[in-house]
Amino acid sequence: MNITLKVWRQKNSQSQGNLMEYKLNDISPDMSFLEMFDVLNEDLQKRGEEPVAFDHDCREGICGMCSMFINGRPHGPQGYTTTCQLHMRVFNDGDTIYVEPWRARAFPVLKDLVVDRSSFDRIVQAGGYISVNTGSARDANEIPIPKEVQEESMDAAACIACGACVAACKNASAMLFVAAQVSKFAVLPQGQPERQLRAERMVAQMDAEGFGACSFTGACSVECPKSISLDHIARLNREYLGAKLTSNNV
Ligand code: FES
Repeated sequence: MNITLKVWRQKNSQSQGNLMEYKLNDISPDMSFLEMFDVLNEDLQKRGEEPVAFDHDCREGICGMCSMFINGRPHGPQGYTTTCQLHMRVFNDGDTIYVEPWRARAFPVLKDLVVDRSSFDRIVQAGGYISVNTGSARDANEIPIPKEVQEESMDAAACIACGACVAACKNASAMLFVAAQVSKFAVLPQGQPERQLRAERMVAQMDAEGFGACSFTGACSVECPKSISLDHIARLNREYLGAKLTSNNV
């Protein structure tokens, strides 16, 4: 297939960017979107031009690195799919495809399609953990947890921190991400010790990083490649309110 790419090129975080046009011929429909970008970069290097900088790591839908805004949607047109798992067959021969970085104040563009998502790391550092007093290994079945509770926690833990929720949100809110981090512990017995502090500290850090407020539009959940549910935002709101009513933390 033959395609035209309009790709956001930006030298560094200080410079202004713009869309550059590239034409690619004989692209296999079975290529992944990132493999198509590999072909583009090989072409650019052969011509002595700077390759397009983009993030990727696992290329298996696990790590959350492949943040591309494709034709106006995070990770492109196919639901529940990361950019690395998107294949060229979802596009048509002759298509023009627009590729941009995530757009959010808390995710500044570093170069081309690469954004700085360390704000997510700082949110997790603020409370996305449980403290465990180490000692001898405990029996895995010592604290029985009902299957439905395990699954609720695992559904939240499926978040790969890619940032698509922020990119999809008109307010650039990180509520779905924070809600997933809070939820995965809040429903488990192991997550109870720092439960109040966790919600308060992570929300405070989210605000400090410059993410917007949640207006419950739901685009985050629709565009999430791991289909993290809005129910977790409801739980975060309950956790946060409960923490504020009963503690003097933060
Ligand atoms: S490169 Fe790891 S999720 Fe896409």
